[in-house]
Amino acid sequence: MLTLKTSELSPVEVQSVLNCAVAPRPICFASTVDREGNVNLSPFSYFNVFSVNPPICVFSPSRRVRDNTTKHTLENIREVPECVINIVNYNMVHQASLASVEYPKGTNEFIKAGFTMLPSEMVKPPRVAESPVQLECLVKHITPLGDGAGAGNLVVAEVKLIHVSESVLGDNGKIDQRKMDHVARLGGDWYCRVTNDNLFEVTKPVRSIGIGVDAIPFAIRNSKVLTGNNLGQLGNVEALPSLEQIAGYRSSWEIQELLNADDAEMQIHLKAKKLLDECKVMEAWMVLLAKK
Ligand SMILES: Cc1cc2nc3c(=O)[nH]c(=O)nc-3n(C[C@H](O)[C@H](O)[C@H](O)COP(=O)(O)O)c2cc1C
Repeated sequence: MLTLKTSELSPVEVQSVLNCAVAPRPICFASTVDREGNVNLSPFSYFNVFSVNPPICVFSPSRRVRDNTTKHTLENIREVPECVINIVNYNMVHQASLASVEYPKGTNEFIKAGFTMLPSEMVKPPRVAESPVQLECLVKHITPLGDGAGAGNLVVAEVKLIHVSESVLGDNGKIDQRKMDHVARLGGDWYCRVTNDNLFEVTKPVRSIGIGVDAIPFAIRNSKVLTGNNLGQLGNVEALPSLEQIAGYRSSWEIQELLNADDAEMQIHLKAKKLLDECKVMEAWMVLLAKK
C-alpha cells in the first residue's frame, strides 16, 4: 500500500491525490455579488449538505495554489454574505466549467458562460435559470482553514429558499433522483454522470437492526463465492428464516439437485449469490441454510 505523509507533499500533490480519492464530489455553482452589485458565478466541488435543521450547505473557495490569492467568490461573500447554490446537471457541465475560467474581477460569468440570470426572492445574487435546483442562502460563517497557497475557506451557508424545476419532479411531487442527471467532479479533468443505468438502491439499515456480518455462520462468511457486498446484504436482515421456511425450501426440486451435487457448497453459494445480486435476500438465506 502506498502511504503518503501530507507534510512531505506540495499542495498540488495533495490536491491531486485527494481529488482522485475523495470523489465523486457534487458541484456547487455559486452565484454571488460584490458590494457594487457586480455578479459572479463559479463552480466549487468542495461542497456538500451538512445539516438539515438548520439547513446548511458548505463549500470552499480555496486560496489559489498558484499565487495564494483569494477567489472572487470569497471576496464577494465577505462583502455581501449571500449566495445562490445552483446544482449542476449534465446539460450544464461544459458551460459550468467555462465559468471557472479566471476572468478579471467584476466579470459576470453568467454572460461569459452563456447562462440566464433569474432574480432571486430573498438574496441579491441571481439564480441560474438552467439549473434544476437553486438554493438561496445566507452565509453564516466563513472560516479560513489556513493562510498558505491552497488553503480552503469553509463557507457555511444557510439555505433559505429551495427552487426545484418541474422537469425533475416525479408524479408524487418530489424530486425524482432519476431525473436529476447529476454530474460530479473527480480527480484531474474527470467527471461522472449519474444516469439511470448506474443508479441503484441499498436498503437503509436503520429501518431494522441487522444481525451483522459477525452473526453469519463461518462457512458462509468465509465463502469463496460471496463478496463483501453479499455479506453486507446477508448481515442486514433482522432475523433468519424460520426452520419451517427452510425445510419447505429445502424440499424443492431445484435445491435438492444443488444439495446432491458433488460440489454442493459451491453450487449453493453460487445460487445464493445470484439471488443476492437480484436483491432476494431472504431466499438467499434459505438456500444457504438449506445445507445442513
Ligand atoms: C467543477 C469545478 C469544481 C471546482 N471546485 C473548486 C473548489 O471546490 N474550490 C476552489 O477553490 N476552486 C474550485 N474550482 C475552481 C474555481 O471554479 C475557479 O478557481 C474559479 O476561477 C473561481 O472563480 P472566482 O475567482 O470568480 O470565485 C472548481 C472548478 C471546476 C470547473
